Amino acid sequence: MPNSASERTTESGPVVAGQAEARIDLGAIRSNVGELVRRASGAAVMGVVKADGYGHGMVPAARAMLAGGATWLGTAFVDEALAVRAAGITAPTVAWIVPPGTPLDQAVAADIDLGISVIASIDDAAEAARRVGRPARVHLKADTGLARGGISPRDWAHAVEAAADAERAGHVRVVGVFSHFACADEPGHPSIARQLDAFQLALKTAEKGGLRPEVRHLANSAATLTLPESHYDLVRPGIAAYGLHPIPELDDGALRPAMTLSAPLMLTRSIDTGQGVSYGYRFVAEHPTRLGLVPLGYADGVPRAATNTAEVSVNGARFPIAGTVCMDQFCVDLGDQPVEAGDRVTLFGPGEQGEPTAQEWADRLGTIHYELVTRVGGRVARRYVGG
Ligand SMILES: Cc1ncc(COP(=O)(O)O)c(C=O)c1O
Repeated sequence: MPNSASERTTESGPVVAGQAEARIDLGAIRSNVGELVRRASGAAVMGVVKADGYGHGMVPAARAMLAGGATWLGTAFVDEALAVRAAGITAPTVAWIVPPGTPLDQAVAADIDLGISVIASIDDAAEAARRVGRPARVHLKADTGLARGGISPRDWAHAVEAAADAERAGHVRVVGVFSHFACADEPGHPSIARQLDAFQLALKTAEKGGLRPEVRHLANSAATLTLPESHYDLVRPGIAAYGLHPIPELDDGALRPAMTLSAPLMLTRSIDTGQGVSYGYRFVAEHPTRLGLVPLGYADGVPRAATNTAEVSVNGARFPIAGTVCMDQFCVDLGDQPVEAGDRVTLFGPGEQGEPTAQEWADRLGTIHYELVTRVGGRVARRYVGG
């Protein structure tokens, strides 16, 4: 039994009968990135492909983004960036979560840029560079108010000094200075202006300290779409490249969701009034009805919270989930509609055939679409179209 999404990848071809799949429209990713390039005020675009390309498959997503006009790639972890390189992709690639003790020799040898969130990582990068015999490319991350990763303002001058020393010694090259927004998806939030100011200050300190980064970068998807003043030299959109708008109220339809999650209906059964359905009998039939069984569950990324809450579509008609979402399957209430075993059930997609969108699922479940697409599990085959 294959156990990861990449092992279950089919590069193209028709729906495989009997198989749950996440259909990934690479043409949509390409054109979404093209749209982001147009909206980036001339800044270069880094396609963010961490977390297996937000569940879409890291390498195919990376290739589609580069084809769409991205010139950089971004990952969270070094291992993800190494997987990008192992696929033969040579575009500049930044890994920005580098916990202390991460082995860095391979990353330096593979020309992977390292995000530096703690001062000690400058030494780690320099030591790896000495062993490998080439400078480590680093991007210093300033905490401008997110208070998550990044070097805090009180340590920033010291970090700049340490980086400048390591650069003079020939062990690192400070390619970038960057930061990350807390509330870019809430236009007008007062933290946005504060973070823009703090970033300016961090850049000034870096310049005074002798650093000359090639790229200053701050904008995620929301900022790429709404805050030109944050674009600097490089923007880092993730979710928008996959066609999901980070600010649903501003969705103008220019982005197209790339993922459609579906499965074949496994069986149908008729039940009588009063019949409880699935674990805990959380759905009880109020009248005779027909149920359909869908072979996807919370192990595949269908949140258990969708119990009696979310809807799916079959042949363009909507059906509610009936009863508890289990590990591998859940039921839907088909009523008297002519739906049969083998018909394809769509959980979410672009919404063009009447199916729910990931945004709609997120709204119903009180979460964000990021969580839905990134959690689609390794048992679900990715089928690529439009490549
Ligand atoms: C540092 C950094 N930059 C960019 C992104 C992309 O964010 P989004 O998917 O909202 O565009 C992320 C994602 O979390 C991130 O952590």
